[in-house]
Amino acid sequence: GITRHYTFNIKLKNITRLCHTKSIVTVNGKFPGPRVIAREGDRLVVKVVNHVPNNISIHWHGVRQLRSGWADGPSYITQCPIQTGHSYVYNFTITGQRGTLFWHAHISWLRATVYGPLIILPRQNESYPFVKPYKEVPILFGEWFNADPEAVINQSLQTGGGPNVSDAYTFNGLPGPLYNCSAKDTYKLKVKPGKTYLLRLINAALNDELFFSIADHSLTVVEADAVYVKPFEINVLMITPGQTTNVLLKTKPKAPNATFLMLARPYATGMGTFDNTTVAGILEYETPSSSLKNRPLLKPGLPAINATNFVANFTSKFRSLATAKFPANVPQIVDKKFFFTVGLGTKPCPKNQTCQGPTNTTKFAASMNNISFALPRIALLQSHFFSQYSKGVYTTDFPAFPLIPFNYTGTPPNNTVVNNGTKLVVIPFNTSVEVVLQDTSILGAESHPLHLHGYNFYVVGQGFGNFDPENDPPKFNLVDPVERNTVGVPSGGWVAIRFQADNPGVWLMHCHFDVHQSWGLGMAWVVLDGELPNQKLPPPPSDLPKC
Ligand code: C2O
Repeated sequence: GITRHYTFNIKLKNITRLCHTKSIVTVNGKFPGPRVIAREGDRLVVKVVNHVPNNISIHWHGVRQLRSGWADGPSYITQCPIQTGHSYVYNFTITGQRGTLFWHAHISWLRATVYGPLIILPRQNESYPFVKPYKEVPILFGEWFNADPEAVINQSLQTGGGPNVSDAYTFNGLPGPLYNCSAKDTYKLKVKPGKTYLLRLINAALNDELFFSIADHSLTVVEADAVYVKPFEINVLMITPGQTTNVLLKTKPKAPNATFLMLARPYATGMGTFDNTTVAGILEYETPSSSLKNRPLLKPGLPAINATNFVANFTSKFRSLATAKFPANVPQIVDKKFFFTVGLGTKPCPKNQTCQGPTNTTKFAASMNNISFALPRIALLQSHFFSQYSKGVYTTDFPAFPLIPFNYTGTPPNNTVVNNGTKLVVIPFNTSVEVVLQDTSILGAESHPLHLHGYNFYVVGQGFGNFDPENDPPKFNLVDPVERNTVGVPSGGWVAIRFQADNPGVWLMHCHFDVHQSWGLGMAWVVLDGELPNQKLPPPPSDLPKC
């Protein structure tokens, strides 16, 4: 591979959407941010220079970061944030991955405006395991806030209430014609008839899983989270924040006398921090002469907002290729099993304050195994690597199982108050891990897109209700389960994942709804070094930011 250099200047830029102009944090003045392209095996060297008042760090979402954990990017996990006037060089190699990923800010809610595509092409002399597309088109799904996104979450954390919802969803930063004062900001995909387009779909929205469909065109799913899958055809897809999906769009053999809307709007199950609006873009066939004006505009249908069965059916279609060239290396034997509950709960309201949580004596909180993840003062990876600092920064007692099991999908127990903590799980190098993630219905069942840093995992099983440790594991798919970095824990259900802990470092696992993450829905793994030199995490680069 070769080395590719990028410079990310973090700077403010005035952007107008929905007739509302505001100054936003951007990379190089672009919204959405610049495209980063590499081939499998290439090294990326990205210098990030912070020219804004906000602290920032950049995460390369889905990149394995094999023995390069210092470049992963989540603030206070693998690095302290880059302060105003400072810079940091992210230096990492793309190993064993090809497809679509994305990069985004990983602190507070800055990723609302700081995100962009990360495209990994196959090695020079390799091709796709599907028909060579005529053209490749990244489409980032996002959320636009008229307000300052950091102010929105800060207010929620202070009052304990749900944050204000966004004002629009976007395709490549554009809300489209279904919003007021937005028709001129419409994403348009111009196509030629009789061609195959590769759409690289990225859900960079903060808090919403989204349905997506294009009128009168089916799509063939060929890749998810930068891993090829067995192709399957759909009319509607669902994509959670943190997921990427590559689809082939085959255009009609002759330019039809119509224009086609593409739509996205939320799939939402919980009590909801979502706005039920629709972003629209346009698929338009290029034709030499005929007037576009008289063409009818066709609109796709989308499932109901809470169509959980549709989603379960859709997600069950994803399968690894599991071929000799692209094997599914599913751990067949598990060294260590974990069972984590994920869900919302409450924290007590501080005395002499009124809160706007589920009741006025409580604040919203979110947790795994009843622990609401609290960010430390200095980065966990630093603290772990220079272990003399670890005292008081984190503890290693994150429970492998819930301390007090209950009926997770039934009536919740009386005491659902969560505890704050910076608790980690420590596992030896190369442990094969199984984690069952179980949604709780303490404040109503809700699906949660769980994302693991530093790894892909295999999704070996999923179901509704309480996970049954006797009867569910025999049904696990250990042959061709999908391999990904973000999975939706079904609303009122569970999902089981497996991974081989072959990447030493400290790795965050969290809900990719920013609101849930801010409320504490996360934890972190410490994967210890192995014996051999190539199984150890090297020391940090000298420009690693200080807290
Ligand atoms: Cu895309 Cu920790 O996130």
